[in-house]
Amino acid sequence: MPEIELPILDLAATPPSMLPLGMGKKVYVETYGCSMNVSDSEIVLGVMHANGYAQTDTPDNADVILINTCSIRENAEHKVHTRLNMLKYYRKRKADLVVGVLGCMAERLRGKLLEERLVDVVVGPDEYRKLPTLVDAAFDGSKGVAVQLSRIETYEDLMPVRKEGRSAFVSISRGCDKFCTFCVVPFTRGRERSRSMSSVVDEVKMLWDQGFKETTLLGQNVNSYRDDTSGADFADLLAACAKATPHMRLRYSTPHPQDMSEKLIETMASYDAICKFIHVPLQSGSDRILELMNRTYRVDHYLRLIERIRRAMPMVSLSTDIIAGFCTETEDDHRMTMDVMREVRYDLAYMYAYSPRENTKAWKMGDDVPHDVKIRRLNEIIEQQVQISGQLFATNVGAVEEILVDGPSKRNTMEWQGRTDTNRVVIFPHDHLRGYNVGDLVTARIVRASSATLFGELL
Ligand code: SAH
Ligand code: SF4
Ligand code: F3S
Repeated sequence: MPEIELPILDLAATPPSMLPLGMGKKVYVETYGCSMNVSDSEIVLGVMHANGYAQTDTPDNADVILINTCSIRENAEHKVHTRLNMLKYYRKRKADLVVGVLGCMAERLRGKLLEERLVDVVVGPDEYRKLPTLVDAAFDGSKGVAVQLSRIETYEDLMPVRKEGRSAFVSISRGCDKFCTFCVVPFTRGRERSRSMSSVVDEVKMLWDQGFKETTLLGQNVNSYRDDTSGADFADLLAACAKATPHMRLRYSTPHPQDMSEKLIETMASYDAICKFIHVPLQSGSDRILELMNRTYRVDHYLRLIERIRRAMPMVSLSTDIIAGFCTETEDDHRMTMDVMREVRYDLAYMYAYSPRENTKAWKMGDDVPHDVKIRRLNEIIEQQVQISGQLFATNVGAVEEILVDGPSKRNTMEWQGRTDTNRVVIFPHDHLRGYNVGDLVTARIVRASSATLFGELL
């Protein structure tokens, strides 16, 4: 994506008070972690742009490098430390480079991050409005830390700078009050708060007018979305979006299995605009472990929920998150997780080895499953899931699917890729005479399947 050019100012003729703060200095943002962080980076670019900074897509010519970080597992943080070390190379080339750490690691590690001598500013997820002035001060040599969490900040008035494309993220709420015992998010993101329904619906409408064809509404726990003025809940918000943009593909992430309402399921089933795909994190198939995790549901509740979802939307596809090797997990607990995964038959699963996080409740419970046992269990879970995905995807062969074109495939430029309503990736040979574009809906017959991808021919 090209750099955004700011208007050229006649510096000599412009009074200093009228000069934008950033004076067109170039900002490069690199994002780690979840979709919420991707969305936050767009907000950060929006704040910086509104304050006179320009954007660049490469650290090579950047005046400011911002790393938006994730703390969810130890290796997520490790990746960022390694990256920060590598940035020394850019500092050598440009002595007045400003480096900032944003996001969940900024919130968790705070001033400690300044000990990495390269870092000039540390800004947590609720303090991005301060970023332009902190960066400006850093050019004069002052280091800055802003990590206050807020009960009200939602950035709903700020205009994000999005990457070009046809799919957009819109965050509808921030923070999390669930306090699963393994999770740092309630500490790094603070208390739950929602944006107003009108601001979300207006943004989705604006995205449609700008040519976006798919929007994913984001929240750590979308079920607890609440519009303070009208009392509207998440199902109302989803319905309002579907009515406002009936041809937009609408998705959302993530619902919590404990309080996913009947009304939400009915709403999903009633609108074509709402994609029939749900990410429903299970974490473990053992009631004892779920209790230790403070997930607040039991396996039978979860399975009944899946049954209700499938009754309302027989073609729905499901994905999940699983943690292998949580403290005290036995071989029996592990087998129960494998059993539930076989029973539900997810399209896709994100599977992780448990990583203890300081200050969480589970941190104090210890980490007693040996590393090699965790990894063996994780591999068993992955192996089983690959088989299930392969079987499910194979049932698509012969079917005719409507797919939203994403663009050239990552592996082979002669092929393009798109996604079905149920979020399955479809690769198809590119036919430049057909005249379709990124964001178009095309029809394809599925001719082949692997465990993660469908292959199709355009009709
Ligand atoms: N709010 C979302 C997910 C947030 S984190 C939800 O509740 O689904 C995404 C996933 O990371 C979690 O679902 C969990 O499976 C995993 N995760 C979180 N903390 C973890 C930890 N300490 N170790 C391993 N995996 C973890
Ligand atoms: Fe973490 Fe649980 Fe909140 Fe998800 S619901 S962000 S796993 S505390
Ligand atoms: Fe997301 Fe990682 Fe923070 S998963 S909320 S960026 S800890």
